[in-house]
Amino acid sequence: MSALQLIIYILLTGGNMQQIIEVQNLSFAYPNRGQVLKDISFCVPKGQIVGLIGASGCGKSTLCLCLAGIIPHSIKGKMKGKIWIDSKDVMDCTLPQLAQKIGMVFQDPDTQLFCPTVEDELAFAPENLCIPPGEIQQRVSKTLKMIDIEHLRYRNPSQLSGGEKHLVALGAVLTLDPDILIFDEVMPRLDEAGKSKIEQVIMQLKSQGKTIVMVEHHPGYFLHMIDRGIVLENGKIIYQGLEKETIRNFFN
Ligand SMILES: Nc1ncnc2c1ncn2[C@@H]1O[C@H](COP(=O)(O)OP(=O)(O)OP(=O)(O)O)[C@@H](O)[C@H]1O
Ligand SMILES: [Mg+2]
Repeated sequence: MSALQLIIYILLTGGNMQQIIEVQNLSFAYPNRGQVLKDISFCVPKGQIVGLIGASGCGKSTLCLCLAGIIPHSIKGKMKGKIWIDSKDVMDCTLPQLAQKIGMVFQDPDTQLFCPTVEDELAFAPENLCIPPGEIQQRVSKTLKMIDIEHLRYRNPSQLSGGEKHLVALGAVLTLDPDILIFDEVMPRLDEAGKSKIEQVIMQLKSQGKTIVMVEHHPGYFLHMIDRGIVLENGKIIYQGLEKETIRNFFN
């Protein structure tokens, strides 16, 4: 990049890094219900960990479903505003295209796991994208190793512990190698060993350049991990920024 190009880039972006998630004036209501999300705007720079924090029912999971495109492609409702994932309008992408960009570990892993073995679970998404079997096997083995669940390979996911299920659900999205990972309140149900395992994996993903959205109802679990925070209240953003003390004060 020449010096002139760099100056133009800084003028256009305010010197920010590439914004991999951009949300502009997003509002959403489920059918026959009041607005759950109200005029939400924010950006997430590539490679950062952003914390999405707010009390139960404030709209965190709904916002995540919008980011992943599940709303409105699969779950319908009244949506206004725009979301771009890696500069692509979510409305112009199919769910399979989005799944290769942004993967979500759901709050309740049982809603996400349905195959008879962990290995099948990890192979499911790439099989649906018609990726060649040899390549799928490589991805499955690499992912099992990376998140340290090789010993669970032939187990039935429904018989695993909560922490193990979250890891399998993560593995099932990682085999598509998305740039962005959403963790929707995975910490609260885990014991200390499970929490530290997930934290270790998240930091490893960050070191690989992944962008992480961590959703929690209280900042206590994870404030030390995040680069920036977004605080939601009743469907609205009431704070976004880097001041961890300010974030903590909302929850005292
Ligand atoms: N499929 C749905 N249909 C109708 N209303 C819904 C649906 N899913 C969520 N809601 C409602 O939307 C609001 C926001 O729910 P959401 O699950 O997004 O909140 P949340 O912040 O993730 O809460 P929690 O911390 O308990 O997971 C709640 O009032 C909830 O009852
Ligand atoms: Mg939720």
